[in-house]
Amino acid sequence: MIPRLAFLVAAAAATTAVCSSDLQEMPPLPKHLAGQGPPKAPADNKTTPEKVALGKSLFFDKRLSKSGTMSCESCHLPEKGWTDGLPLSKKDDGTLNTRHSPTLFNAAYADDLYWDGRAAGLEKQVLAAWKAQMGADPDAEAKELAGIPGYAKAFEKAFGGPPTGDTVVKALSAFLRTLLPEDAPWDRHEAGEAGAVTPEVVEGFRIFTEVANCSLCHVPPLYTDTLFHNIGVGFDKEKPDPGRGKILADAAAKEGKPVPADAVSMTGAFKTPTLRAVVDSAPYYHDGSTARLEDAVDFLLKGGVPNPNLDPKLKPKSLSEKERAALLAFLRSLTPPARPYERPALP
Ligand code: HEC
Ligand code: HEC
Repeated sequence: MIPRLAFLVAAAAATTAVCSSDLQEMPPLPKHLAGQGPPKAPADNKTTPEKVALGKSLFFDKRLSKSGTMSCESCHLPEKGWTDGLPLSKKDDGTLNTRHSPTLFNAAYADDLYWDGRAAGLEKQVLAAWKAQMGADPDAEAKELAGIPGYAKAFEKAFGGPPTGDTVVKALSAFLRTLLPEDAPWDRHEAGEAGAVTPEVVEGFRIFTEVANCSLCHVPPLYTDTLFHNIGVGFDKEKPDPGRGKILADAAAKEGKPVPADAVSMTGAFKTPTLRAVVDSAPYYHDGSTARLEDAVDFLLKGGVPNPNLDPKLKPKSLSEKERAALLAFLRSLTPPARPYERPALP
């Protein structure tokens, strides 16, 4: 309570003349998952309420794209668990992505971003997304933002200077570090709230961890190990996406080294997605190929698609109809209740 009050008082004191084009009041930083410290931020981009409020506006602002018609939100909608509900979506230049827009929940806890982990850290990832998805020329866009008084003021407050490509990226990254799912029924159960979930859900957790061994890769409380595994998605089609393998092979080639063994074994491996908000983030898998949660789970229970690099941690499991229903009930309990998301008023 005290920090919240402190921010409100500070915000009120700092704005002598409140004009409608200013950013909204700074929200308090969110609480993080029980048992999981706050996401790490790099030394040169400590998370502050000023950066978060600014990053939130930038995230929803179409002026950040080349065409002026696309924002980060276009592919990461809060109501869809920060995904877009499409198998694959079009970039600002009209070309189609080859991978499904992932959730942004808990992205802050991963060292390697993207399905194949090719970006080391959020700042690198955000810069890449801004350029590749939105066709942006960062310094040119930053100059444009400098001409908008509300933004000029907000950048001054957050970074002590006018917007630059670098500080736009830093503010967006600070905002992403606050996208932590809260109060899913399962969290309330774990916090000791009686009746937060049904006994079927509790049984589903037991099946998830002890029977089907899903938690070998979807490790609580993030429900991901943030590592890469081949479960065979796409291996029933021609030319499966090489995923992590290509990143490792390219890195070796850049240093003039031969293709390393892990580049071969990691071919077709993708980052374990978090299962938080999984109900909202359909369709599933890196290629968005599976529309229903039931089918996604059955794919795993079958043991994925056999291929030379299939992860040995994934084994076929036969569950009774009742056990399967409980497992699904548990997965649904990881999704926070639907609630309207308050979009920022842009300066
Ligand atoms: C046109 C759609 C589109 C837009 C616009 C877009 N993204 Fe994404 N985003 C994607 C796709 C697709 C991926 C996955 C790409 C991959 O893994 O190869 C992704 C991945 C990410 C990830 C990685 C998540 C993880 O867990 O690895 C983050 C973070 C992210 N985007 C943030 C942003 C931000 C910030 C913006 C605005 C600057 C943005 N995105 C704009 C489609 C989009
Ligand atoms: C060997 C590690 C591993 C195990 C064990 C595992 N998963 Fe996964 N899971 C993954 C990976 C990796 C993906 C993404 C694969 C891809 O897109 O190519 C995934 C994807 C999913 C998805 C789709 C999520 C999304 O947002 O796209 C669901 C749902 C899921 N797993 C549930 C389960 C359940 C339930 C079990 C236990 C029956 C399980 N997983 C066991 C690694 C694993």
